[in-house]
Amino acid sequence: MATADFLPPIMFLLLFSIFRITLSTNSPDITTDQSALLALKSHITHDPHSLLATNWSTSTSVCNWIGVTCGSRHHRVTALDLSSMDLTGTIPSQLGNLSFLHSFSICHNSFHGSLPTELTNLHRLKHLNFGNNSFGGEIPSWFGYFGELQSLLLYMNNFTGVIPSSFGNLSKLETLSLFNNNLRGQIHIRIDYCSNLIPLYLENN
Ligand SMILES: *[C@@H]1O[C@H](CO)[C@@H](O)[C@H](O)[C@H]1NC(C)=O
Ligand SMILES: *[C@@H]1O[C@H](CO)[C@@H](O)[C@H](O)[C@H]1NC(C)=O
Ligand SMILES: *[C@@H]1O[C@H](CO)[C@@H](O)[C@H](O)[C@H]1NC(C)=O
Ligand SMILES: *[C@@H]1O[C@H](CO)[C@@H](O)[C@H](O)[C@H]1NC(C)=O
Ligand SMILES: *[C@@H]1O[C@H](CO)[C@@H](O)[C@H](O)[C@H]1NC(C)=O
Repeated sequence: MATADFLPPIMFLLLFSIFRITLSTNSPDITTDQSALLALKSHITHDPHSLLATNWSTSTSVCNWIGVTCGSRHHRVTALDLSSMDLTGTIPSQLGNLSFLHSFSICHNSFHGSLPTELTNLHRLKHLNFGNNSFGGEIPSWFGYFGELQSLLLYMNNFTGVIPSSFGNLSKLETLSLFNNNLRGQIHIRIDYCSNLIPLYLENN
């Protein structure tokens, strides 16, 4: 009898700890952010001032890394600012794991290639500045999934094609800057969706 009485709570505790272990191995945390940023570091082919090479060291928390800001509540990376660091490289798909990122700036560098689809997971993004780099290809239509986006700066790159119609979904967008690219055709954005749209920079396309 006594054993039978004790069994359910013990089983509950056991199940609970198994559940906790499962949760902690599956849920993303700051180590997810660390591996995403290390993937980015490994995709940098030229770092003339050795900024990431010396500073992005696993012996310190990513939250102390240059250009990285963490939120106090969830202890996750919320902002990444690598602007004007003279970096050359590409954007790896792992950056899509920075799920708490709301500000992402890499302007005034030499990033090139195309943008991985995994970036669509960055659904908290409010500010994105990829200006003055060498990104090419079409502007991905999945930018339309960034429902929180307030500023999207893609000026001075090598984007081709047309502005995706999905940009009409960006209902919170306030600034869109696309000047100095190789875009053509009409603006397919349904401006009624972009009622907040104040500055719209499209010259030299
Ligand atoms: C990395 O850079 C940050 C910001 O400049 C600085 O506070 C930190 O001490 C540096 N860390 C290392 C290991 O150099
Ligand atoms: C991060 O992203 C990559 C590629 O998108 C994926 O393979 C990996 O499993 C993700 N998760 C973690 C925890 O790094
Ligand atoms: C563009 O970025 C480069 C560094 O990659 C910088 O030297 C240059 O001044 C920038 N151009 C403008 C117009 O900001
Ligand atoms: C843009 O693309 C063209 C053709 O693909 C290439 O010749 C040119 O160097 C590129 N320009 C920049 C700034 O990356
Ligand atoms: C844009 O929004 C519509 C409906 O609001 C949705 O059906 C569509 O999938 C969205 N497209 C993109 C690219 O976000």
